Amino acid sequence: APATITINPYFAVAPVNRRIFGSFVEHLGRCVYTGICEPDHPTADEHGFRQDVIDLVRELGVTAVRYPGGNFVSGYRWEDGVGPRDQRPRRLDLAWHSTETNAFGLHEMAEWLEKVGEKGGEPGVAEINDTSATTAESTEAPDVSSAATPTPTAPELMEAINLGTRGLQEALDLLEYANIPGGTTLSDARRANGREKPFSIRMWCLGNEMDGPWQLGHKSAHDYGVLAADVARGMRQIDPDLELVVCGSSSHGMPTFGEWERTVLEHTYDLVDFVSCHAYYKPVNGDISSFLASGVDMDGFIKDVGSVIDAVKAQRKSTHNVAISFDEWNVWYAGEEASRTPEGIGNWPVAPRLLEDQYSALDAVVVGDLLITLLRNADRVHAASLAQLVNVIAPIMTEPGGPAWRQTIFHPFAAVAALAKGGTVLESRTDGPTVTTAAYGDVPMIDSVTVRCADGSLAVFVTNRSLDSSVDLTIPIPESWLREDKAGTVAGVSVDARTLHDDDINARNTIDDQNHVTLQSNPTAHVETDDDRASVH
Ligand code: AHR
Repeated sequence: APATITINPYFAVAPVNRRIFGSFVEHLGRCVYTGICEPDHPTADEHGFRQDVIDLVRELGVTAVRYPGGNFVSGYRWEDGVGPRDQRPRRLDLAWHSTETNAFGLHEMAEWLEKVGEKGGEPGVAEINDTSATTAESTEAPDVSSAATPTPTAPELMEAINLGTRGLQEALDLLEYANIPGGTTLSDARRANGREKPFSIRMWCLGNEMDGPWQLGHKSAHDYGVLAADVARGMRQIDPDLELVVCGSSSHGMPTFGEWERTVLEHTYDLVDFVSCHAYYKPVNGDISSFLASGVDMDGFIKDVGSVIDAVKAQRKSTHNVAISFDEWNVWYAGEEASRTPEGIGNWPVAPRLLEDQYSALDAVVVGDLLITLLRNADRVHAASLAQLVNVIAPIMTEPGGPAWRQTIFHPFAAVAALAKGGTVLESRTDGPTVTTAAYGDVPMIDSVTVRCADGSLAVFVTNRSLDSSVDLTIPIPESWLREDKAGTVAGVSVDARTLHDDDINARNTIDDQNHVTLQSNPTAHVETDDDRASVH
């Protein structure tokens, strides 16, 4: 079936906020222990950080990391994770029925992020080779291997605080410990613990999923809103310029969705900068067509939360803006065997294998579709975190003592991050066939977003949501863009396309077959020119 993407090069939706390519490290299963940190691993550095994982995180292009949870944070005492390691307490982690050794904490997290930022860190736009290609169609990863000396960029630390079992005082203590240069008991304790300079954490999450009955210290919207407002006010007395994220809903389908956001924002609107959204998708009752259209739900979620933000803003006659931090999103086969937590009063394992979903080619297409959705809403979504980073519903897998490898979902994320970072989302329109889904009715078969990249080229990210139909896609190159572009003429247009596809939608990357599903060069993509017109097919 034919489809067309019409790009308007003059109308920008919004700049792509670099925080959109964030991820998430929770003390959960093997995300931290034997994930990013494994002192006995052959590639471990002096801190115990796995170098093979650091290399993959750089390649993934992660710009921010939310830490230390997740459900874990709602029972966490941050003090347990600082100071001499041999004196740190072992604690029950009620969220994941595990034992937390506290061998890794705030200092280790910050050091790890700095290490990721060394030697170039994430492949930011400055490092993308100028290929002189003027049009990039597809999810295409630039060759960064021979790039000029990159600007080091460490991913930003986005710290979550415990508003489940704790409150204002502990939040203030952590902020003082982390961000005050010195001269107080807590800031001097940080210096004594080996960190002279403050961590200077800008972005703080005021708790995690407080709308969820599973959350330790779960609260009503009213009670949470009052607490979050108090904590925000207190934290701003220390530093008015912090960026604060208030908890929105744990999913679009929560029974309290909408009312939760309204109530919480009525208490906190002018005190916070973001409201969070979380969403995980999986096929429900084997309905793969609806699963492929998960972006439709995510898009509706963002639009709905945007409406509540606007309504509260109008009602309060506020001039302040609140954006969305989509700080947990992914495919997650929740409820299935891999996500079963340990049980038993005497059974609290350290770093058990938990939530170790093995992603398929199908899952990678959905993740690509969700990324497209986040970018298309770049005017609302100023931050997002792929949940999570290593081993736990993750793009990167490791084996203790063994290799680290890329799951299928790694590829769309890395490719989009490399091209879209530093770019601007442009208005575009997709015309084409639809697919019928049980969950969302008829939805566009082709989902896409167009980004004007930092180097002036255009990147068009596209997913095909159909299980059995291919699409003949045409992208007319806007004449005005040609005039502005350095190529200047139709003859200067070139296309470089990559596609993630497998005839077997269940194909996976495993420890024994690590590169089974990757992005492949798409040889069918070509440019057609006709006098002063050009289009990509
Ligand atoms: O990412 C896994 C879990 O999903 C997080 O701990 C929680 O916030 C969410 O429910």
